[in-house]
Amino acid sequence: MRTHTCGDLNSDHVDQQVQLCGWVKNIRVLSKTLLFVQLRDAYGSVQLLAEKSRFPQFAEDKRTLELLNPDTLVSVHGTVIMRPDSMVNSAEKTGEIELIVDKIKVLNHAEPLPFSPYIKSQLFKQMLMAAGFDRYYQIARCFRDEDLRADRQPEFTQVDLEMAFVTKEDIQGVVERLIQRVWRTVKQVDIPIPFARLSFSEATRKYGSDKPDTRFGLEIAQMPDLAADEHTIAEALVIPGGADLFSTKDLAPFTGIIGISQKNNESRLTTIHKVGEQGATGLSKASLLSRWLSREDLDMEQRQTQLVSLLDSMSAKSGDLLFVSERSAYVTPANTTLGRIRSLAAKALQDKGALSIPSDSYNFLWVEEFPLFTRECDDMQGRLSATHHPFTAPVESDLALLYTDPAKARGEHYDIVLNGVELGGGSIRVHDPKMQSYIFKGILKLSPRVQDSFSHLLTALGHGCPPHGGIALGLDRLVAILTDSASLRDVIAFPKSANGRDLFMRAPAQVTKEQLAEYGVGVISGQSQS
Ligand code: AMO
Repeated sequence: MRTHTCGDLNSDHVDQQVQLCGWVKNIRVLSKTLLFVQLRDAYGSVQLLAEKSRFPQFAEDKRTLELLNPDTLVSVHGTVIMRPDSMVNSAEKTGEIELIVDKIKVLNHAEPLPFSPYIKSQLFKQMLMAAGFDRYYQIARCFRDEDLRADRQPEFTQVDLEMAFVTKEDIQGVVERLIQRVWRTVKQVDIPIPFARLSFSEATRKYGSDKPDTRFGLEIAQMPDLAADEHTIAEALVIPGGADLFSTKDLAPFTGIIGISQKNNESRLTTIHKVGEQGATGLSKASLLSRWLSREDLDMEQRQTQLVSLLDSMSAKSGDLLFVSERSAYVTPANTTLGRIRSLAAKALQDKGALSIPSDSYNFLWVEEFPLFTRECDDMQGRLSATHHPFTAPVESDLALLYTDPAKARGEHYDIVLNGVELGGGSIRVHDPKMQSYIFKGILKLSPRVQDSFSHLLTALGHGCPPHGGIALGLDRLVAILTDSASLRDVIAFPKSANGRDLFMRAPAQVTKEQLAEYGVGVISGQSQS
């Protein structure tokens, strides 16, 4: 069926008529009368050129060729010619020649693949696992359009990895050993493994954050008795000695946090109280404490007794500062109001010399069991969106909840946190196409258009995709911590400014008409070309 294989041909074969069989790698239609096909077999690949003037069936076959799926098997007949000098590809074995086709026949059509193995782009790492790769890692450049902060840049770098046939513990183990080795090498510090584990619910309850700094206590206490009803959570935070240490001026940033979080609906009511021998200040104003004290018709003395026992239950003593806060039971922000206050208080206590955190203490921990879905608004009927991304698998014991009460299902997601900084995050993925499709349609209620944009993933999962999971560590954040740098900008060669500008390249900048023309872009309205 063939006179040569695709990898055989070279300049010795020029002017010879040959017959090849091979799989279509890609087709480039250059014009109405000219197209190129890259054909491959087990021995190499060769460029075919189909040109109207030299291909009797060109008109009929061009349309067929254009519609061929990659990997369709064809048989071709043609003449070997030298490529023009400017088209020679010295990196390819057959790069000096090409085959002018005069006959082409489809031997076997290929079904569309879920992805193209020939496109070298930023591909989902899940796809690699579906393709049978066992392990993947990459130092990956990432580009994200998000608000910039000291620990965020629009261009950053991740150590990105994915593994097949693994459990959450396998991935955590790989990362723990990696971190241990990096710290030993760079800091000459031995980090004990395994790291501590904290569930999302415990992290937000105790520390008011999904990336808590556990180098100091200041734990938040749950106060269910103070809650207005079952739709709300009431909590308290005691800052030992805070009433004596902090002046009214010192308290201004705390009041600022409270104002912002109430405006953003993160807390319904948060108040500050100074604890004294006789009780607490601020009880004359609307507060959870005064609401609780006035729930029954108590006389002054009874109120005093109740208050003292409540403060006792919070371990609040005279001279302490007390924050009491109420928030929705349905939406848990990554940082609650008391969580933000806790971080600020730790810094303020450090500034006053009342709290010391050794610079060489590294409290690594895994935060896990995040809710798979988050309510978009503060009620039980609110739409659900994926807390991280919609590809995270539920924890096994919550599988049934996915179909009955998805808002309660926890995910096999894990974040690695160090001293209050999120170093990385990952998850075990859904590998069952039916479950993935149910998440898209039944839970997230994605529109058909958005569902369609994930169809390649569903197809790949439906081709025997193994159980798999992965994680990405922020390389810049890791380096910033290892070098004790305050900002990512200190460890990135050409960092962007706070508003995303590249000061070195002066980008973004105006472009010229010629530059627009080069990319085939036209300006249809407006004064400036930017
Ligand atoms: P995630 O979005 O949590 O997960 O990112 C992983 C880690 O990347 C770093 N990072 C950043 N660093 C600097 N600037 C930014 N703008 C920025 N955004 C993220 C952080 C973060 O912990 N695809 C998932 C990973 C997975 O599921 O495998 C992902 O990217 O250190």
